[in-house]
Amino acid sequence: MDYPTLGRSGLKVSRACLGAMNFGTSGGVASCDESEAGRIVDAFLEAGHTFFDTADAYTGGRSEEILGRAIGRRRDSVVLATKAFLPQGPGPNDRGLSRAHLTRALEASLRRLGTDYIDLYQCHQWDHGTPIEETLATLDGFVRAGKVRYIGCSNFTASQIVESAWAAERLGVTAFTSLQPQYSLVVRDVEAEILPACERHGLGAMVWSPLAGGVLTGRYARGVAPAADSRMGRLMASPAPMARAWADGLLHERALGIADEVGRVAAELGTTSTAVAIAWVRRRPGVTSVVIGPRTVEQLHGTLAGFALDLPAEAAERLDEVSRSAALTPVNGMPPGSIRERVRS
Ligand SMILES: NC(=O)c1ccc[n+]([C@@H]2O[C@H](COP(=O)([O-])OP(=O)(O)OC[C@H]3O[C@@H](n4cnc5c(N)ncnc54)[C@H](OP(=O)(O)O)[C@@H]3O)[C@@H](O)[C@H]2O)c1
Repeated sequence: MDYPTLGRSGLKVSRACLGAMNFGTSGGVASCDESEAGRIVDAFLEAGHTFFDTADAYTGGRSEEILGRAIGRRRDSVVLATKAFLPQGPGPNDRGLSRAHLTRALEASLRRLGTDYIDLYQCHQWDHGTPIEETLATLDGFVRAGKVRYIGCSNFTASQIVESAWAAERLGVTAFTSLQPQYSLVVRDVEAEILPACERHGLGAMVWSPLAGGVLTGRYARGVAPAADSRMGRLMASPAPMARAWADGLLHERALGIADEVGRVAAELGTTSTAVAIAWVRRRPGVTSVVIGPRTVEQLHGTLAGFALDLPAEAAERLDEVSRSAALTPVNGMPPGSIRERVRS
C-alpha cells in the first residue's frame, strides 16, 4: 500500500478516501444506517486505508457523528477531513466562510466528530460574500491553535485556487493543501484549468463522485426509471432543485454511452464496471486520492477492487476517447497535452 503526500505538505494519505456522505438519513431517506457504516469503516481500515472525508452539511450533521463514533479509538491513526460552508441554521451568519461562521462551525464539527483536532479542514465552496483574506486568516488561527492541522478547499475554480494561493503568500498564513473537485469519466472539466492550477500551486487533488454517483457502475438503463432507493432515484425525487440538477448532470445519454464502454472494457478484463471506472480515475495525472462513497460493505469491496486494477493502456485510451469532453478541446490551437506538459509550457 502506498501513502502519497497530499499536495505540498508532509501529510500522508491513502489513495482511497472513504466519503461518509451516505452515512445517516437525509430528507427522511435512510441511506446507510449506523451499524452498516461501522462495518464499512472497519473493512476500509482493515484493507489498509486511512483517509476519511465528511462535512458538517452531510445528513444534517449525523454523518460526522456516525463517522466519529465508528473511528472511535483509532482516531490518531487516521486522517480525518471535514468541511464547512453550507447553511447550519437560518441566520445570515450560519453559513459561508466568514470568521463568524467558521469559528462556530469548527467547534460544532469537533463536537460531533468527538475529537479535539481535524486533520484537514476544507472550505466546501468559495464564498462570494467573504474576502478570502478573512477566511485564510481565520483558518490559520485554527492551525496555530492546534485545532486543525491542514486546510483545503472544494469546488473552487482555477482562478479561485490561484487567488487563494497568492493571498496566503501575501499574508504569510497557511495555504490550502488540497482541492476536492468532482472528477470521473462523466465529468472531466477539471482537466482543462483546475488540476493544472492545483499542480502549479501545490494542492493535492482528492476527487469526488468517481462513479458519477453510481452511473458508471452500469446500474442505470435507458428508458427505465431509476429505482426509488438508488442515488439517482433519491436525487430525482428530492424537493431541492440543486439535487435534481445534480442528477441531470450525471444521468444523460452521453453518460450512459460512457458507462456502456466501461462495461465492455470490464467484460474483456473479467472485472466489474465499478473497478474499471475507479482504476481509470485513480491513475489520472494530478489525482492524489479518490473519495469513494459506498453505501454498503459489498459496495465498498466492489469499489476497492478498482485500486488494485491496472488498466491496460489500450483500455485506458478507449475510455479516454469515449469520455473526452469539450473542456479538452485545443486551447488557442495548442493540443491539450498532459497536465505536466501544460504546466511547464
Ligand atoms: N466536496 C463536495 O462537494 C462533494 C460532493 C459530493 C461528494 N463528496 C464526497 O465524495 C464522496 C463520494 O461521492 P459519491 O458518493 O457521489 O461517489 P460515487 O462513488 O460516485 O457514488 C456513490 C454511489 O454509487 C453507488 N455505488 C458505490 N459503490 C458501488 C458499487 N460497488 N456497486 C454499485 N453501486 C455502487 C451507490 O449508489 P446507491 O446509493 O444508489 O446504491 C453510492 O451511493 C462522498 O461521500 C463525499 O465524501 C464531496
